[in-house]
Amino acid sequence: MTSNVGIIIGTTREARFADHPAQWIRELISERASFAAETIDLRVYPMPLFSEPQAPAARAPADEVATRWRTRVAELDAYIFVTGEYNRSIPAVLKNALDHAYYEFNRKPAAFVSYGGNGGVRAIEHLRLICIELQMACTRNAVHIGVEPYAAVRDQGRSLSDFPSLNRAAATMLDELGWWAQTLKTGRGS
Ligand SMILES: Cc1cc2nc3c(=O)[nH]c(=O)nc-3n(C[C@H](O)[C@H](O)[C@H](O)COP(=O)(O)O)c2cc1C
Repeated sequence: MTSNVGIIIGTTREARFADHPAQWIRELISERASFAAETIDLRVYPMPLFSEPQAPAARAPADEVATRWRTRVAELDAYIFVTGEYNRSIPAVLKNALDHAYYEFNRKPAAFVSYGGNGGVRAIEHLRLICIELQMACTRNAVHIGVEPYAAVRDQGRSLSDFPSLNRAAATMLDELGWWAQTLKTGRGS
């Protein structure tokens, strides 16, 4: 059974670092027959700041871009969030996107690739709590890209695949995500 995994890029600024880890994790996924990966770039979904009359759990957002976003999310079986850390949490653009969906994420797994001063770990700790509210199953394992590989890629043109510890972390995370994706897909019956 193949699982459709969405790699959600959580930052949108022009000079973002996010494209490096998003591309790297996508290449690693492509080596696995059990996954089909798609990149979901929030730049393609420029939603307004949330101003719907009710939460998406109570009423589907009317905004046209948010509707496109929710439709895309609904098509996927699992998610890998790729994000930097903004003020010890996730970027506002990612939180806003998550606020615009609900049922589309329910009973699906989430995994994480982050970067920043502390490997973006504090952003992911916040994101894990948000995922609980969205009724998602979070993988225990994640990839946290620390300062050394971050700077090597950004400033020296190195590749994330040059760092064995990151490759090992990604492999462990993808093994876990694969189990959850298949198990929950069976459980959802879809
Ligand atoms: C508004 C803002 C807040 C930030 N806050 C943190 C922070 O709290 N901790 C940290 O380690 N890095 C922080 N950074 C550095 C980012 O993690 C780093 O710039 C990263 O590359 C941002 O992701 P992006 O390049 O994909 O936008 C911050 C960056 C920005 C733009």
